[in-house]
Amino acid sequence: MPHGRRASAFDAPPGALISRPLDARVVLGRSLLDDAFLRDPYPTYRALREAGPLVWSDEFFGGAWLVTRHADVELVLRDARFSAQRTGGWLMRPADAEHPDRRAGRNALKGFQRLFSRAMIFLDAPDHARVRQAMSAAFRPADLQRLMPRIEQAVAERLAAIDARAPFDFVRALARPLPAQVIGLLMGLDDDESDSQADVVAWSDELADFIGAPAPSHVQALRAQTALLAMARYFDGLLARRRAALADGAEPRDDVIGRLLQAERDGQIRGSAELLAQCVMLLFAGHETTRHLLANGLRTLLTHPEQWRLLQRDRALLPGAVRELLRFDSPVQYTGRRVATDLELHGQTLHRGDLVVALIGAANRDPARHERPDELDITRRPAPPLAFGQGPHVCIGAALTLMEAQTVFGQVLDHWPDLLPSPTTEPRWIGNALYRGLHELPLQCSGLPASTPISAPTLPPSLTALTPDPACKLS
Ligand code: HEM
Repeated sequence: MPHGRRASAFDAPPGALISRPLDARVVLGRSLLDDAFLRDPYPTYRALREAGPLVWSDEFFGGAWLVTRHADVELVLRDARFSAQRTGGWLMRPADAEHPDRRAGRNALKGFQRLFSRAMIFLDAPDHARVRQAMSAAFRPADLQRLMPRIEQAVAERLAAIDARAPFDFVRALARPLPAQVIGLLMGLDDDESDSQADVVAWSDELADFIGAPAPSHVQALRAQTALLAMARYFDGLLARRRAALADGAEPRDDVIGRLLQAERDGQIRGSAELLAQCVMLLFAGHETTRHLLANGLRTLLTHPEQWRLLQRDRALLPGAVRELLRFDSPVQYTGRRVATDLELHGQTLHRGDLVVALIGAANRDPARHERPDELDITRRPAPPLAFGQGPHVCIGAALTLMEAQTVFGQVLDHWPDLLPSPTTEPRWIGNALYRGLHELPLQCSGLPASTPISAPTLPPSLTALTPDPACKLS
C-alpha cells in the first residue's frame, strides 16, 4: 500500500477524483519480481505500461510507485519535486528473520548510509550542483581522447589472450575486468595500487548485490557495508598518500583524483568524507554498468546475426549500434526518487517521502517513444536512450562508456567475424532487478580465428594487473 496517507488513496469515496491505485500484483496476477521477470523483464514492463501510467508495488523497498512510460520517467528524473536523497530508505527496513531488532539493524548500517548519502547521485540542489561541477571539471573530454590508445591497447591485450577456437567466457576474459581497469586509468590509480583492482571488482559485486535488490536481506546489507567500507579504506590510503606528496611540494597530478583533491582544497568538495564518497561511487558506477553493456551487448548482437552482419559491412554504424543496445537492454533498469512534496500525478496523490521507481528499461521499450520498440535495429535514428538517465543526474561517464564499448565491439568484429554464442548454454542472468547482466557469456568461433592474431603490445604494469583466466590463453 502507498506510504503516507495510504488509507485515503485506497478508500476514496465513489466519485472522488482520486482513483484507486493499480496494484502490480493484481495487474500481473503474480509476484512482480519472479524468476521469469529477472530473466526477461520486458513482457512484465509491457503489461504494467498498458495497465496504466502509475502502478503501486509493495515489492520495492516495502512499497513504491512504478512509472513505466517514457514521458513519466523523464518527468521523474527532471523534476525537482522528486528528490535524489533516498539512502535513508536502506535504514528503514522492516525487521526480518535475520535481524528481528529493527533498531540494531539500522545502527549496523549507519556507516554505509553515512558514506553513500554523500555521493553526488544521492544529492539534491544546491549540493548536487556544487559537487557535479567539481566532478565535471575532473572529467575532461581531452582526457578521454588521451586515454583512447590505452583503452585500445588494453582491449587488444585481453583479446590476444583468448583462444577462441575453444569455448571461452567473454565475461571473465574481458567484460568483467576491463571497465575497472579503465576507470582506474582515468582516475589515476597508481601502478602499485592497481593490485587492488581485483578487490574492487569483488567489492563492487557485493555492493551491486545489495543496491540492486528491491528487498535486500540484512545479510546482503551487511556484506555491502563491509565492501563499501573496504573500498573507502582503499581510497582513504590513496588520498592520504597523495595529500602527503602535495604537502612535500610535489606537483599536483593531472588526473581525476588530482583534480578532485584540488576541488577539496578550493572548498568545492567539502571535506574528506565527501571526497571519499565521490571516489567510491565513481569506481563502482564506472565498473558495474559498463561490464553489463559489454556482455549483454555482444550477446544481443550475436543473437541477431543480421545486425551483426550489418555492422561487419559498415563500421560507421557502431556508435548508433551501441546506443541501440543501450536502449534495447539497458544495464541499469531503474532508478529511484523520493517525493519531496505532496503532488498529484495521473489522478493519484503522491505523498512526501513516497518512493518512485522510474523503470528506465520499460521506458526504453515504450511504443509511444520508439517505433517497433521490441525490435533491435542498429540503423534506427536513435532518440537518445534513457539508459544514461536524464536531467541533473544524467550519467557523467556516458562518453567513456560509449568509447569503451565501441572499441571492444570494433576489435571483436575485426578479429572474430564468425563468433557465435555457445549453442548449448542458456544465458545465466545475475538475477539482479536493477543491474541487468550475465554471469557468463560462453562464446566460440565457428571457423578458425582470423589469420592475423591481435598483437599483444607491451603494457605498463597498471594494464596487466587483472589478467584473464589462464585457461583462456593460447597454449
Ligand atoms: C553502460 C554504462 C552506464 C550506464 C548504463 C549508466 C547509467 C547511469 C544512469 C541511469 C544514471 C542516472 C541515475 C539517476 O538519475 O538516478 C547514471 C549516473 C551516474 N553515472 Fe553512469 N552509467 C554508466 C557508466 C558510467 C561510468 C563509466 C561512470 C564513471 C566513469 C558512471 C558514473 C556515473 C555517475 C557519477 C553518475 C551520477 C551523476 C549525478 O548524480 O550527477 N557511469 N549512470
